[in-house]
Amino acid sequence: MAPDDEQLEELVLGPLSELDNPGSREFRIGTGDWPFKGFVVRSGDSVFAYQNFCMHVGHPLNWQPDRFLTDDGRQIVCASHGALYDIETGLCTSGPCPGQSLRPVQIEIRDGNIVVTGPNRQR
Ligand code: FES
Repeated sequence: MAPDDEQLEELVLGPLSELDNPGSREFRIGTGDWPFKGFVVRSGDSVFAYQNFCMHVGHPLNWQPDRFLTDDGRQIVCASHGALYDIETGLCTSGPCPGQSLRPVQIEIRDGNIVVTGPNRQR
């Protein structure tokens, strides 16, 4: 379900320097029964963000808080059935949904902080 406009306010997640490298962190925008759920992934000095929605059957990707990466930290993994996604593009490279891509979320680095500027409504 798409968040309503009230849920599109910016969200400051905190300093990039406090995120493991590689590392990931989940976030929510909005409250109530249907908050927008997403996560950010740091890889080097770059950060990427996606909706927490696996393209296989729509499960959240993680079972444990903030755990979205393979053990070697080189790919995003879905805990349900093992889909692997490229960190930089969100493209599924292995598993049950190859060729499909995670839904990107707009972020920026502002004064060293990761700022979520809103879900990307493009599908
Ligand atoms: S729901 Fe993610 S791999 Fe099946």
